[in-house]
Amino acid sequence: MVKRKDVLLLAVFLGGFSGLAVAVGRLGADLAPAILASLVVTVVAVLGACALRWLQRQFADQNEQAMATYHQLESLVWLSNALSVRQPLPAMRTWAISPDFAATLFSLLRGMNWPVRILELGGGVSTVIAGYCIREQGGHIVSLDHDADYAERTRRTLEQHGLSDLATVLHAPLIETPVDGQSWCWYDLRDVPDDRPFDLLIVDGPPAATQALARYPALPMLLDRLAPDAVVLVDDAHRADDRATIARWLETSGEFTMEDVATEKGAAILRRMRRSEIGKVDATTRTDGAEALQRSGRSRRKLRTGT
Ligand SMILES: C[S@@+](CC[C@H](N)C(=O)[O-])C[C@H]1O[C@@H](n2cnc3c(N)ncnc32)[C@H](O)[C@@H]1O
Repeated sequence: MVKRKDVLLLAVFLGGFSGLAVAVGRLGADLAPAILASLVVTVVAVLGACALRWLQRQFADQNEQAMATYHQLESLVWLSNALSVRQPLPAMRTWAISPDFAATLFSLLRGMNWPVRILELGGGVSTVIAGYCIREQGGHIVSLDHDADYAERTRRTLEQHGLSDLATVLHAPLIETPVDGQSWCWYDLRDVPDDRPFDLLIVDGPPAATQALARYPALPMLLDRLAPDAVVLVDDAHRADDRATIARWLETSGEFTMEDVATEKGAAILRRMRRSEIGKVDATTRTDGAEALQRSGRSRRKLRTGT
């Protein structure tokens, strides 16, 4: 895209030379061709400089995107090996989680006490990844989807991967729900089992377009279904709306510490504090998405060199 600064620069040059040409034209007709020639040369030079700057920016953008894609591929390859997947995984990114979020989920689950009970808001490839982790170490995932077709799609994918026994996918339509004195569109929770608390809550739904702070009800609605040392993993934490949601959770509940994970879409890990820690710990930390891989045993460097 041509920047406003470049257009302004061009306008200043053109204005300046036009003024000069008029002034010199008044002084004498002999100088007019020379002025015109220098005007043309300057305009060509300025246009060339603008085009060069534009190309440099395009190359920088392309390079950035290529690197971002490379990092995602790196996470995906690593994850596919670590999980010994038996079928290609469904497409990631866009609506689905990105591979670096999947690696973060894997790494988080590896560090938890097993068997682990997971509740997920917004299912898809993330349910499959969690299913593979559970297959290794034990546990169960309950995944809610507001959309019956997507719920069915996730069930079919789990079946293809031989993971159906480890996951319960519930169609939970969004219904009017009062939360903090306001009305929200929130999952119908009536079928969510309440026999045992959940150790991990994955927040990747409902879609942001549902309403402002669409995912805010997650904590107020589900806090009493979470284990005392539960962890909440949030996707899309780069979006202003979701950052505001997390800030409001931290402010209103006062029971969680937050770790900011620098994944492609941004992720946050909220850890519930023990009662004795509440008020004493004021921890918000930042980590790189790449650390998810490193913590799981292999560094990016090793992956690059294949060692
Ligand atoms: C952010 S998506 C959840 C993605 C999921 N965690 C995954 O990793 O695939 C939230 C909801 O959007 C819906 N959804 C998924 N893919 C979609 C698509 N391509 N277009 C529109 N809605 C979609 C589903 O109902 C899903 O529960």
